[in-house]
Amino acid sequence: MEVLVFGAAGQLGSALRACAGETLGVIPAPRAVDIADRTAVAELLDGHRVDAVINAAAMTHVDAAEVDPMPAIRANTAGPATLALSCRERNLPLVHVSTEAVYRGDQPLAYREGDACDPVSAYGISKLAGDLLVCDLHEGAWVVRTSWLYSAASSSNFPHRLRAQLQAHTRPIPVVTDVVGNPTPADLLAEAILELIPAAPAAGVYHVCCREPASKYDWAVVIAESLGYPADRIEPTDSTRYRSAARRPAYVDLDCGRFRALGLTVLPTWQEAWQAGADAYRRDPTTAVVWGVT
Ligand SMILES: NC(=O)c1ccc[n+]([C@@H]2O[C@H](COP(=O)([O-])OP(=O)(O)OC[C@H]3O[C@@H](n4cnc5c(N)ncnc54)[C@H](OP(=O)(O)O)[C@@H]3O)[C@@H](O)[C@H]2O)c1
Repeated sequence: MEVLVFGAAGQLGSALRACAGETLGVIPAPRAVDIADRTAVAELLDGHRVDAVINAAAMTHVDAAEVDPMPAIRANTAGPATLALSCRERNLPLVHVSTEAVYRGDQPLAYREGDACDPVSAYGISKLAGDLLVCDLHEGAWVVRTSWLYSAASSSNFPHRLRAQLQAHTRPIPVVTDVVGNPTPADLLAEAILELIPAAPAAGVYHVCCREPASKYDWAVVIAESLGYPADRIEPTDSTRYRSAARRPAYVDLDCGRFRALGLTVLPTWQEAWQAGADAYRRDPTTAVVWGVT
């Protein structure tokens, strides 16, 4: 089975490429092919014999999208719609990846796939519009919503930014306690997506992420301690004192019961997943020197 991956150079796309095996090959779509360009997408699909398509491409700069939403609307709304139409025309299964940011984040219970969406940012709105169009335009598509992705192989994620700050100075680092999600390694999500395709379950939305919710502060403390720093390097704060251009949903815990019921791999808790992968963060990828552990 051959799967064409859009967004192949991104955090999740790289993890998908790393997961490719003998039974499931991954073909990376060139970045020059804009997923919102119907002609370019058609040429690519017609030039390869593939069995399925994964859309891991997105505009993921949440604050930048609030300032100028047009790139997000192109990549996160027009792009998924283009892929849905193009795949439907060719009878190709499509996995479209989405986000916890489609939910408002104001309910104490975990979100299930049928719960109302009500995004609080331009990024979340652009992603929700993409999800709706994918489901409307391609009856067989799967929309996989995940949360707080990270990968040691990528530099644009929370653990990398926190590690850089821990290294750079000795002051306490303020991290918010009132923004909650499910930290999920990109490689575990990639494995789950690559299992989903041959399993071919009913179309629609699936939540796929690590179990149990964490605040950004909870996660930062675990990261700091596992890298050999004292917990008090992380200072609790809240989002009223830590301003950003875009709002984040306050509390989104994704219920993955629908995905679990498929009988595929069950993702671990976020703590188990972090500890299992923490070694990669203890090594500086540029110098291969073990750092931070005294
Ligand atoms: N990161 C998270 O914490 C998180 C959380 C929940 C859900 N998600 C979802 O997970 C998916 C993967 O996220 P990620 O973290 O892997 O994102 P990422 O690292 O930002 O990668 C996205 C990739 O898509 C490419 N891209 C952007 N616009 C494109 C376009 N119009 N046409 C083709 N390619 C385009 C980007 O290329 P350039 O860099 O060259 O623009 C980049 O290589 C996204 O759907 C995201 O919404 C992410």
